Amino acid sequence: MSTTPAIQSRLPQVGTTIFTVMSALAQECGAVNLGQGFPDFNCDPALVDHVSAAMREGLNQYPPMTGVPQLRERYAAKIEALYGRRYDATSEITITAGATQAILTAVLCCVHPGDEVIVLEPCYDSYGPAIELAGGKVVRVPLTPGRFRPDFERIAAAITSRTRLLMINSPHNPSATVWTAAEMQRLAGLLAPTDVLLLSDEVYEHMVFDGAAHVSASSIPALASRAFVVSSFGKTYHVTGWKVGTVAAPAALTAEFRKVHQFNVFTVNTPVQHALARHMADPAPYLGLPAFYQRKRDLFRTGLAATRLRLLPSEGSYFQLVDYSAVSSLPEAEFCQWLTREIGVAAIPLAVFYEGGFEQGLARLCFAKKDETLQAALARLARL
Ligand SMILES: Cc1ncc(COP(=O)(O)O)c(C=O)c1O
Repeated sequence: MSTTPAIQSRLPQVGTTIFTVMSALAQECGAVNLGQGFPDFNCDPALVDHVSAAMREGLNQYPPMTGVPQLRERYAAKIEALYGRRYDATSEITITAGATQAILTAVLCCVHPGDEVIVLEPCYDSYGPAIELAGGKVVRVPLTPGRFRPDFERIAAAITSRTRLLMINSPHNPSATVWTAAEMQRLAGLLAPTDVLLLSDEVYEHMVFDGAAHVSASSIPALASRAFVVSSFGKTYHVTGWKVGTVAAPAALTAEFRKVHQFNVFTVNTPVQHALARHMADPAPYLGLPAFYQRKRDLFRTGLAATRLRLLPSEGSYFQLVDYSAVSSLPEAEFCQWLTREIGVAAIPLAVFYEGGFEQGLARLCFAKKDETLQAALARLARL
């Protein structure tokens, strides 16, 4: 009889993610799924037309390892127009298989076994495993409780001679906070005397509300010179399943990034890259995104205000945190399961974004949904 040899897991702590669990439960219960963070509406049909046109034109073979030049050019031009830094499209912009691959690749290219990487909790769930796969040590610094702002004293105290990288994310998943210009400047000052690299996860760069501006690490020279700036077309163009992202970084960092990228995915599918390049010729879709999502946010918040859920601010991203302490004293995971089964709305417990959990009586809801989906969820949540 043949047996499968046992392997020692590289990620022994990792199981099925809460997003998969809650989506399955939502389906089983016929719940409105505001858990997983993706749109339930379609992208611009013109974008799909660009993909089929590119396929019909025969753009179906390997593109350059670094990405289709037209897309790198367009992306460099966008960063320059919005954030004021000129990245060289040939040596400083790389197209990736979504932000997740960009993050893993950036970590793998600069983190050596024993190096420390600071993440600010709560954080996106791929950060920790990426660092562990590189053999690095995850150093977790909490954002300020309740307000989710960077705590610079604690960040400074966490930096040691082994610190190689700091990872930040604004607009922030899951708290929906947005770093201010003053906070980004303070970070620049804090990192200036160190050789700590920065990974700035900016996948929600076009979802900032109430007239505020996204402050990209690329807009601050002292940060840009040490940063991998990561973004995702999936978020910007409502195509999360296409898994195409970007990394902008100084040439020396990009060179190392590409060494890993080359043997990780090598490159990203050709027709989608051409389609995105053509679509990006018109900036209106991404320039209109703040207003598009702010309207959904406001519709959602107005409805939620009539429930016993307490709303935290949603400054950016497409998430809304709610404090359910007036409704229930259940721990977050149990509350979210109860909400899915009994009320028919799926949410994500905030505790899953912390190593080992941290109970604050908060749940994350996603409002990247059709208005009728949001209305259906609100009608159910009105029973709370
Ligand atoms: C903060 C953050 N970073 C990265 C990603 C991953 O983006 P992509 O789908 O392009 O890999 C997500 C997706 O939810 C996210 O919320």
